Amino acid sequence: MSLPPSTPPADPAAPLSRRRFLRTASAAVLGGSMLGSLAVPRGVFADSSETIKIALVGCGGRGTGAANQALSTPGPTQLIAMADVRPEQLTKSLATLTAHKASQVDVPPERQFTDFDGYQKAIALADIVILATSPGFRPIHFQEAVRQGKHVFMEKPVATDAPGVRRVLAAAQTAKEKNLKVGVGLQRHHQPGYLETIKRLQDGAVGKAMSFRCYWDGTSRDGVDREPGETEMHYQIRNWYYFTWLSGDHIVEQHVHNIDVINWMKGAHPVRAQGMGGRQVRKAKRHGQIFDHHFVEFEYADGTRMFSQCRQIPRCWPSVSEHVLGTEGEVHCQGNRFAITGPQAWQYRNEGKRVDPYQQEHDDLFDAIRHDKPYHEAEYGALSTMTGILGRMCTYSGQQITWEEAINSRIDLLPKTFSWDTLPLVLPNADGYYPVAVPGQTVCV
Ligand SMILES: NC(=O)c1ccc[n+]([C@@H]2O[C@H](COP(=O)([O-])OP(=O)(O)OC[C@H]3O[C@@H](n4cnc5c(N)ncnc54)[C@H](O)[C@@H]3O)[C@@H](O)[C@H]2O)c1
Repeated sequence: MSLPPSTPPADPAAPLSRRRFLRTASAAVLGGSMLGSLAVPRGVFADSSETIKIALVGCGGRGTGAANQALSTPGPTQLIAMADVRPEQLTKSLATLTAHKASQVDVPPERQFTDFDGYQKAIALADIVILATSPGFRPIHFQEAVRQGKHVFMEKPVATDAPGVRRVLAAAQTAKEKNLKVGVGLQRHHQPGYLETIKRLQDGAVGKAMSFRCYWDGTSRDGVDREPGETEMHYQIRNWYYFTWLSGDHIVEQHVHNIDVINWMKGAHPVRAQGMGGRQVRKAKRHGQIFDHHFVEFEYADGTRMFSQCRQIPRCWPSVSEHVLGTEGEVHCQGNRFAITGPQAWQYRNEGKRVDPYQQEHDDLFDAIRHDKPYHEAEYGALSTMTGILGRMCTYSGQQITWEEAINSRIDLLPKTFSWDTLPLVLPNADGYYPVAVPGQTVCV
């Protein structure tokens, strides 16, 4: 598989010649300039009783969960294609999904794709594609789904480097023009406690917000050791969390959730940052190249700061939370607990049914598809991903870096082609250890 250009020509014929588009398109769309009008389809699923065909690309833990959630949305849905470069993952996922949703799973061997181009074939068969590989591949897969005119649910983060973010932002714009619905797995946007708390904050519940803090301090999956005879590409994809080009490092892969909440509260992304980080306990070969802690001070255009901490070291203080200090009180978000202190003190009470944000984000996306509501999460997903990448650039390099420098960076972490024999850009030394960034020496923009 080789990379497509970052702005490929649109394929106007791809999804829109389908029976259901023609049946639901307005006379105005079908009249006049056919090609021009096709760029803005109306109501691909005007009939909410139609079966929505789903393809899954990346059949690991989250992909399997997301597919199950997509199949649990109201209205008829069917999983019709799956792609994963590791056949054993696809087989396991298919068995799990069949056990849960037998009548909605129809993925015969000819619709199971296990080569590096498999995503293209799976996307071609579906109405909506779930993109849940390791994040390094996301920009390529998202760009292709949009090129083919398909709705998308993609997991966070949506890229691991600046060229990837730019690719996602460009495709997000095209998705809007094609009236495609795009969901991003930053599920806090579908969690009632966050929605209510952030509305109150933005309505002035704590006065002027002066500073922001966020944390993902905890632990993570351990690395996996290399198997005898395994190629470098196979090993890195199997141990993806520990390679920056595949995961983004945990400041991007995991902490993006908390960083995204602060960007959401601010309604903006930072303009510059500086920070520090390193690895104290990740010393083994299986720990690849990522850090085990990062601390970043992000600055927004109005001078307010976000202090962001993420640490993956066992037996240390744990916290996954976001906090705001305002002139008239504070905001605290942690798990399913949300509180505001000060004159307008308030506590979130979970009234009625408990909402599972992982299910809710799919319910909302499928509802938007069935009823042709605007649904565009790719842009804020890309900007929050880029905020995490900016933070990583600062901790790896030890420099202060502006948003403009970061997002325009030409440092591309991905190889140009993919096969099991392709060499990734980061390689182990003769002893099997990978190079780790050194602040003051490593160049990131
Ligand atoms: N929103 C959340 O709370 C949440 C939770 C967990 C994971 N995630 C995200 O979901 C994504 C997947 O995480 P996971 O835990 O499921 O990982 P995983 O390792 O369990 O699954 C990833 C799968 O992708 C496959 N894959 C890798 N490269 C591929 C390619 N080029 N084409 C096709 N398949 C490919 C792998 O073989 C693997 O089966 C990550 O981006 C992660 O950050 C999000």
